[in-house]
Amino acid sequence: MRLHLPVIGQVAPPVMGGALPLDPLVDLFARHVRYLRVSVTDRCNYRCSYCMPEALGTSIEFQPRAALLSFEEIERVVRLFAGLGVRKIRLTGGEPMVRAEIGALVRRVAAIPGIEQVVMTTNGHLVAEHARALVAAGLTGLNISIDTLDPDRFRELTGRGDLARVQAGIAAARAAGLPVQLNTVALRGVNDGELVALARYAWLHGATPRFIEHMPMSAGQLYAADAEISSASIRQILEAELGPLTVAASARRDPGPARHWTTSSGREVGIISAMTDHFCAACNRLRLTATGDLHACLGHDDAVSLRDVLRGGGSDDDLTRAIAASVTGKREGHTFERSGTGGPRKHMIGMGG
Ligand code: GTP
Ligand code: 5AD
Ligand code: SF4
Repeated sequence: MRLHLPVIGQVAPPVMGGALPLDPLVDLFARHVRYLRVSVTDRCNYRCSYCMPEALGTSIEFQPRAALLSFEEIERVVRLFAGLGVRKIRLTGGEPMVRAEIGALVRRVAAIPGIEQVVMTTNGHLVAEHARALVAAGLTGLNISIDTLDPDRFRELTGRGDLARVQAGIAAARAAGLPVQLNTVALRGVNDGELVALARYAWLHGATPRFIEHMPMSAGQLYAADAEISSASIRQILEAELGPLTVAASARRDPGPARHWTTSSGREVGIISAMTDHFCAACNRLRLTATGDLHACLGHDDAVSLRDVLRGGGSDDDLTRAIAASVTGKREGHTFERSGTGGPRKHMIGMGG
């Protein structure tokens, strides 16, 4: 069986005609969307075991170039979102830096009036060579994944990754003046003995460590339920060595899934309860896939195709109606449960988290 990425559920037909809603970015639960995550590619130069495992081999069929939104299309959509009130854009993938000329996209997006933050989530492999240019283009922050400090384990976990390159990327990003958060997916029996070392590594390099609950969103639906570590256990592991964690003064810059904590020595650490918490009441995000599907929630499959509107000659009002349809359909919360049940069918690789 060929596996097409991103695998999604129902993509509603575009909404054409009809009245424009008063505020298209306010949903039925009175949440205001202010943050758009934009996936720029479903491709990746790594093969992380929990995301797109190497074992899937050639069964993964990536989207052809023509299926992806062009930079012009992304810019048009972001400009419209900015006019409606979005202030923060996070570029994701796959791996966003494998998209050619990614700096040109950052420049376009950062120049849009109203956009205050343009940030990116990356595996770090290409950061060292891009960091300075991305800052010059207007990038304001990076989340870099690093799941272990052991080079062999890193290679095994990422399929093709190179720890030294990622570490050089972290240093280059900091040297270029970027705020950096380090993302670690906590995996029992894999890196649970390294969480404190990873936190100390982050602090030493001027970054904020963040530990993420393992989510059942791997391509191929492979999910190692026995590798789950709940955010409560992550906190226990950290507190056993670092002492009590208290709620960080900065909590929360964004009402997202990360909770930020402070150690007694004033160091900050984030814990992302992607599965066991329901931070959904304060959710302010939407996600646009590389093929132009707008997903109102990471935890549900339904989406609205903005690409159909863009390529069908739709006006900005048509696009606004399609966005409003997505926002109106935004569910109250995710249904991830522990042990991999209750979640969406879609994959992380097509969504960028
Ligand atoms: P900022 O808040 O902008 O720093 O971003 P983030 O921490 O949400 O983004 P990042 O791309 O670094 O993702 C970190 C982890 O959070 C990934 O595992 C994502 O899948 C997860 N995540 C991001 N948004 C959501 C969400 O809305 N719901 C859930 N359940 N998990 C999310
Ligand atoms: N569960 C939790 N986090 C995941 N990521 C990728 N796959 C998963 C998963 N199954 C993380 C990456 C990256 C961010 C985009 O999402 O490690 O930090
Ligand atoms: Fe690539 Fe990120 Fe998925 Fe790893 S988690 S395979 S680096 S997209």
